[in-house]
Amino acid sequence: MQRIILDTDIGTDVDDALALALALRSPEIVLEGVTTVYGDVDIRARLVKKLMHLANRHDVCVYKGIEKPLLQNREVFWAGHEELLLSNHEAFDIEDRHAVDFIIDKIMSNPGEITLVPIGPLTNIAVAIIREPRIVEHVKEIILMGGVTRLGNNGIELPPIEHNVKCDPEAASLVFSSGAPIVMVGLDVTMKVRITSKEKDELYASGDPLNIALAQSIEKWLRFRGKDWTAMHDPLAVSLLVDRSIVQTQRMNIRVEYDHRHPTGQTVAVFSEDANVEIGLEVDNERFIRLLMDRLLAQN
Ligand code: BDR
Ligand code: CA
Repeated sequence: MQRIILDTDIGTDVDDALALALALRSPEIVLEGVTTVYGDVDIRARLVKKLMHLANRHDVCVYKGIEKPLLQNREVFWAGHEELLLSNHEAFDIEDRHAVDFIIDKIMSNPGEITLVPIGPLTNIAVAIIREPRIVEHVKEIILMGGVTRLGNNGIELPPIEHNVKCDPEAASLVFSSGAPIVMVGLDVTMKVRITSKEKDELYASGDPLNIALAQSIEKWLRFRGKDWTAMHDPLAVSLLVDRSIVQTQRMNIRVEYDHRHPTGQTVAVFSEDANVEIGLEVDNERFIRLLMDRLLAQN
């Protein structure tokens, strides 16, 4: 059983919603709580609640986290697209407790048991480490979507900087250099796992309320992007909780390049004897898509 906390910027891209759905619908995963980060954390929290409501899951609490990057004067990129997923503002209960307090308490009271799965900028995780450095020893693992190293053998074009790290490079630097055991699912691998309108149609056809909401979001997102595919960045990180062999990794350190005046955020892989990051290199695309769709469609 994998006990996890999902830390999400849901609403920025459609993939966070699919990552949440995969976690909810994988019997190997126990979702201990969901925390939101970056930009409008309240709308993000309500999005999570809405999807859990559609999945008939009322057992998982949602906590709002930090809105701005560690350096408060940084621009917040790509916030405000949350409405793409939330058509109306429904009243759902969000916990009063702060996401960072929840993360610290859950890890400290369950040493070696909890895996953090950050699928947005790393601000909540960095602040949790600052407030309680012992979580680095007590967390089971951090499986995160973020960064890009270009170590793998890929014929795809990759941007020099990945969004989650770019949004808060100081937070990313703090997390990567904390010594915590990390699995980094970066753009090198996530750009290879894509869904198209074929998967969207299968979700619609299933008739399941959560799947229909996902299909609607995918449809809007594909139209917004003007493409017939979208990458499953965040679900790939979640899938490793179920089947680690989907992604091949290499253990190295990650140095995050930043200049406090500019949002850089390049992630540079560095060889080291005591490396703490398993960096994703190659991915079994077919096995991943099969796992994702089997889990989502299994409800029907
Ligand atoms: C990451 O950025 C977000 O938009 C996606 O949800 C994913 O977490 C990909 O760079
Ligand atoms: Ca995300």
